[in-house]
Amino acid sequence: METISVDTFKSIAEMGNDGIFVFNEDYKVEYANQMASVLTGIPAGELLGMDFRKVFPEVGELFLKDLEGNREKYQNKLCTVTRIKQRSGKYLDTYLCIATESTQQGRGKTYVYLTDISEQKRMENELRKARDFLMKLIDSSVDAIIATDMKGNILIFNKGAEKLLGYKAEEVIGKMNIKQIYPEGSKQARMIMSMLRSPAYGGVGKLNSVMIRNINKNGEIIHGNLSAAIVYENGKEVASVGIFTDLRERIKTEEKLKETQLQLLQAEKMASIGKLAAGVAHEINNPLGGILIYATLMMEDMDDSDPRKDDLKRIVQETTRCKEIVKSLLEFAREIGPNREVVDINKAVLDSLFFLEKQAIFYNIEIKKELYPNLPKVLAHPGQLKQVFMNMMVNAADAMHGSGTLTIRTGVTKDKKNVWIEFIDTGEGIPEENLNKIFDPFFTTKEIGRGTGLGLSTSYGIIQDHKGKIDVKSKIGEGSTFRIEIPIKEEKKEVLASQFN
Ligand SMILES: Nc1ncnc2c1ncn2[C@@H]1O[C@H](COP(=O)(O)OP(=O)(O)OP(=O)(O)O)[C@@H](O)[C@H]1O
Ligand SMILES: [Mg+2]
Repeated sequence: METISVDTFKSIAEMGNDGIFVFNEDYKVEYANQMASVLTGIPAGELLGMDFRKVFPEVGELFLKDLEGNREKYQNKLCTVTRIKQRSGKYLDTYLCIATESTQQGRGKTYVYLTDISEQKRMENELRKARDFLMKLIDSSVDAIIATDMKGNILIFNKGAEKLLGYKAEEVIGKMNIKQIYPEGSKQARMIMSMLRSPAYGGVGKLNSVMIRNINKNGEIIHGNLSAAIVYENGKEVASVGIFTDLRERIKTEEKLKETQLQLLQAEKMASIGKLAAGVAHEINNPLGGILIYATLMMEDMDDSDPRKDDLKRIVQETTRCKEIVKSLLEFAREIGPNREVVDINKAVLDSLFFLEKQAIFYNIEIKKELYPNLPKVLAHPGQLKQVFMNMMVNAADAMHGSGTLTIRTGVTKDKKNVWIEFIDTGEGIPEENLNKIFDPFFTTKEIGRGTGLGLSTSYGIIQDHKGKIDVKSKIGEGSTFRIEIPIKEEKKEVLASQFN
């Protein structure tokens, strides 16, 4: 190749937008193009003969030291992004390359190539700002937003995702795969991808709102909703982004609603059965009375040796049992009008216990009383309340088959509006599938002749009449807790009323 003349080189050097310097062996400027003086802000005439360290104040000294100290590493050439101080005192972002010739005598000439990169820097800054703004936007979403590459590696994990899944973004980005947030792992991730690629769920590349299960850092399953999309670049899939909505609150509300509906249904059922029961009971009560009277009369007339006397005794016994059932039915329908009084629940509990404690089924049952002192009074029908409490205690004793612990506790609810009474037994417990049946009339698990299945339904009706509520919690093999709440009697404002008379 022919060597080019110095003049040719100079004309080339003047063409560009970059500064070009040639320094002699003593680091003094030997040549500098027009741009060199523009970028440094030093007039061309002054620049000639100027020392390297003066041309590049603040950084020049460091560069030379670095270059000289690390000749091996740089192989005489050092390029870096740096800010240089211009003559005016302003700083300029540049890309600066220095090369030093080595000759046999030692150091030769030094060349500097200087590029103004302030525009590039400005754009970078702007880009960074735009990106930060975008990230803030993504972070401000209450929904979880997660973006991944096509292998499922997580690229974006916003604040909503942190909240939903319990991971911090820095634990996840570049470290976790999307399949780790699905309880069924890669199978579920593949399924979502195939839904995304299918036209059936909102178009190819889109997935419009499907129910989904996620698994959080603690291994808990979270029910939610997912909308997702594939991100394309020149028609090629490059990423996917998903928006996950937490449905737990909504599901909870829906369950509550369902529960209320069930309760309403139960109340309705009770009301209609109550009417029916009352009607039937009325009709049966009189003929039963007749049977009982005539059978008793016949029995009294009969000689003790008469073999039919035993049969009649049976008739009287069974008829009496029928009358008992009819009586409970009538009570259940509350045909016996209530008379409300101010009642001390603690006392009503103790009264009911007084009757029962002496019964054989309570002999081996330890009874613990944790009665709240100075319990506020309620307005109630004392006989009915005692009947409820006795039902609870007999049920508990039955469930413990004669031995165990029955704890009776009373207290005041947090809102101070109700008193509560709990009957806690250590009995056999109630199977889940029976929990919504035990308050039904005639539901019993006891053998024929031992239970009519009216105890709890009657109690339910009575407590409802008192504007209270009754609940049960139970665990098979551990026991059951029946809890009753009754409104506290309000103090009447009679004084005020009389003032206006
Ligand atoms: N404390 C309890 N532990 C376990 N099961 C219970 C308890 N209380 C009630 N049950 C279940 O609920 C059913 C219904 O109770 P309920 O008091 O209404 O009727 P019953 O006790 O069977 O008959 P009765 O009409 O004589 O009271 C019971 O048969 C029993 O299966
Ligand atoms: Mg019972």
